Amino acid sequence: MKTISICNNKGGVGKSTITLFLSDFFSSQRTENRKLRILVIDLDSQGSSAISLLGLQRVAKIKSEKGCFSDVLIKINQGNKFSLSKYLHKREETQTTTQKIPLGELHVIVQEQTRTLKLEDNCDQQQCLQLVKVFKKIIEEKFDLVFIDMPAKIEPDRHKIALAGLRCSDHILIPTEPTRITLNAMTDTFNLIQYARGIASKRDDLIEIIGIVLNKTDRRTKQYRLHHADLYDMAAKHQTIVFDNFLPTAPALSSASDDSLSFLTLRERYSNYYDNVRAIAIELATKCGYGVKRIKTKGRKNVSS
Ligand SMILES: Nc1ncnc2c1ncn2[C@@H]1O[C@H](COP(=O)(O)OP(=O)(O)O)[C@@H](O)[C@H]1O
Ligand SMILES: [Mg+2]
Repeated sequence: MKTISICNNKGGVGKSTITLFLSDFFSSQRTENRKLRILVIDLDSQGSSAISLLGLQRVAKIKSEKGCFSDVLIKINQGNKFSLSKYLHKREETQTTTQKIPLGELHVIVQEQTRTLKLEDNCDQQQCLQLVKVFKKIIEEKFDLVFIDMPAKIEPDRHKIALAGLRCSDHILIPTEPTRITLNAMTDTFNLIQYARGIASKRDDLIEIIGIVLNKTDRRTKQYRLHHADLYDMAAKHQTIVFDNFLPTAPALSSASDDSLSFLTLRERYSNYYDNVRAIAIELATKCGYGVKRIKTKGRKNVSS
C-alpha cells in the first residue's frame, strides 16, 4: 500500500479536484490479476471530495452516524473493538444517461470537524500520530493506493490528525496555480511538510515530495510565462519536479461542484480533460510504480511497472 497526500496549505488550488481525478483514474487500472483497490481519505471536514464521490446526503448520514475518521480513531484510542466497514464507504456503481461506466473499487473515508477537534484537544501530536499509524496498519492489506485529500490552513500544534496523516504518507503531491499569490504561499506548504517530517524523524520512512502539480494553467498566457521559471526553481530547491499543466482553467470544472451528478462519472463528463489526467498518472506510475500493471495510452507507449 502506498499513501499519497495531496497537500497545499492554500485553499482553492485544486487539491480535491486532483484527488478525485487521480483516485478515479487509478481505480480503473489493474495490478497483476485484479483492479487496484483505492481509498480516498478526505481529511477536510468540508468534504469536497467525499461529497463528490458519495453524495451530499450520504456524507451527512455518515457524519450523523459517527462513521467518520475521527470516530474510528476514538475507538482505537479507547481500545474498543469496531467493525472497519462502518468507516469505509464504497462509491456506488452508476448508470449515466448515455452509457454504463464500469467503475473501479473506490472507498472513501469522511472527516468531521467537532469530534476531530475534541480528539485533538485530548491527545498530543505523538498520540495522534500513533492512532493514525495503527489505523494505517489495519488497512494495509486492504488497499493498494490511498489518496489523502488534505485540508488547507493546517496549523502546527493544532491540527494534529491532518499532520499525522501527512507524516504517514509515502508521497506528496502539491497542486498549485501559476499566480504570484499562490506561489508566494508555497513557502508555507513546504514549511508545513518540514514540520510534519519532524514529528517523527526516521530516515527510512521520509515523506517524498513527488511533484508540484500545476493546475488551472494555460501555457500560452502571460501569467504562465511570468511564473514558470520561479516554479521550476522552487521545485529544484526542494528536490522535486513540476508536473506541468495538470488541467487548464476549465469552466466545466469550476461549475462541477454545482452539478448534482457531481464527479461520479468523471471520465464521461470531463473526457476533454481526462487525457491530461492520464498523462500525469502515467508519469506518476512510471516514477513510483504504484503496482500499476499497464496504463493504456492514446498513441503513446504503454507503461508497465
Ligand atoms: N483546472 C480547473 N479549472 C477550473 N476550475 C477548477 C480547476 N481545478 C479546480 N477547479 C475549481 O476550483 C475550485 C477549488 O478547487 P478544489 O479542488 O476544491 O481546491 P482545494 O481542494 O485546493 O481547495 C473548485 O470549485 C474546483 O471545481
Ligand atoms: Mg479541498
